[in-house]
Amino acid sequence: MVSRVIPVDPFDLVIFGGTGDLARRKILPGLFRRFCAGQMPKGARVIGAARGDMDSAAYRDFVADAIAEFGGERSCEEGTLAGFLERMEFVTIDARGDKGWDELAKLVRSDVVRAYYFSVGPSLFADLAHRLNAHGLTDADSRIVVEKPFGRDLPSAQALNKDLAMHFDESQIYRIDHYLGKETVQNLMAVRFGNMLFEPLWNSQYVDHIQITVAETVGVGGRGEYYDKSGAMRDMVQNHLMQLLCLIAMEPPSKFDPDAVRDEKLKVIRALDEVQPHHIVRGQYEASDDEPGYREAVGDPRSRTESYIAMKVGISNWRWAGTPFYLRTGKMLKARSSEITVVFKELNHSIFGEQSDHRNVLSIRLQPNEGITLGVTIKEPGPGGMRLVDVPLDMSFADALGEDGADQTDAYERLIMDVIRGNQTLFMRGDEVEAAWAWTDPIINGWEGRGEVPKTYDAGSEGPVDAVQLLARDTRVWRKVAP
Ligand code: BG6
Repeated sequence: MVSRVIPVDPFDLVIFGGTGDLARRKILPGLFRRFCAGQMPKGARVIGAARGDMDSAAYRDFVADAIAEFGGERSCEEGTLAGFLERMEFVTIDARGDKGWDELAKLVRSDVVRAYYFSVGPSLFADLAHRLNAHGLTDADSRIVVEKPFGRDLPSAQALNKDLAMHFDESQIYRIDHYLGKETVQNLMAVRFGNMLFEPLWNSQYVDHIQITVAETVGVGGRGEYYDKSGAMRDMVQNHLMQLLCLIAMEPPSKFDPDAVRDEKLKVIRALDEVQPHHIVRGQYEASDDEPGYREAVGDPRSRTESYIAMKVGISNWRWAGTPFYLRTGKMLKARSSEITVVFKELNHSIFGEQSDHRNVLSIRLQPNEGITLGVTIKEPGPGGMRLVDVPLDMSFADALGEDGADQTDAYERLIMDVIRGNQTLFMRGDEVEAAWAWTDPIINGWEGRGEVPKTYDAGSEGPVDAVQLLARDTRVWRKVAP
């Protein structure tokens, strides 16, 4: 099977924060891979913009280094990198002053798609939006891309939305949640809405419970300062896990169109129950042989920020009332493994008597080893009567689809191309982000008000013991965290 590359229109993509970490690790190498795939048309250019003094020649060296370090295995033939670098320009700019704006206005063309990537802290969003307009750099077709974190609570998210809305229409604002750019996350929609098989069973009548796990082996590393002010709830649950929950739980949109999909996701967030304090377990990892513990890593021996969270969530709507969703995510766990598991109910009646406690389990692996496994019950082979056994119907995308199944297109490169195409389906709408904060704020305020201290867990484990009890109380068990 051959991947299809759908061409995009010529563009000028300006990256504010063009020398920052995200640009170096993700955006620039991602653009290079799209270039190699033949998806950057002749008239496409990338303009780095940042505070530091640099000229375009020096920026090209910077980009070449970023690609050498983070470009992945796919590289172009010799000579092509030079062709990519020719598309790079650089402007020194002051987001809060006048420097560089006239130069940028001369550089950016008005007859191509104009996209502005705000790869900077949210405190600069309003300044950038204002200056882009003041210098005539936008029109009704220009787009801005904004990074997470989109606020740290509902009031700050509302303020950001308001600032951006002063200069841009919602249809021009692309709020990134890179989980939506992951191949298998989109596959969730394909599996649910592209097959007859699952949708009729996708409700509380047939589904016992659903588990969503995003386990990481990394610690907070050098991001301690940011992370300690956020914790797993703000860093992962409010956005990435919430998006997964929405895609799993939403009603079928009438078509695969940005607002139809986002309307359905919003309805799920609005139907989430308030979470009871005893339905949440927060954890903080301890030191291991090779890595400092959480508190040491963030430099605060009394930090109460969680690096792990597990919770039981209910959705009060016709489809899901009575089916709990168990969410968990954490750093420094046993394995890197992201998975959504749908556990179906037991049979109403088994003709096999005692052996009836077999259940179908559908597991969708997001990373690594993307694929889907469906556990089905069959007869154990051989004579001696009717004994039942559960076996997996296992579909690894890499095995089923060959090279394309193991497609390594990074979430960022896919999402940037969607921006150029003007497709907002995989981006969060302002009301969605606000609804997600409206749900998380009372939970976080509750912990802070009660001065709650997270439980500890061993680095390299599956998380705090209390998380096991959270499910045990409901006579359920977590799936094993395995790579
Ligand atoms: C980011 C979080 O949004 O997602 C990080 O800020 C986290 O803390 C990362 O490690 C996980 O992304 P991925 O793609 O590696 O699963």
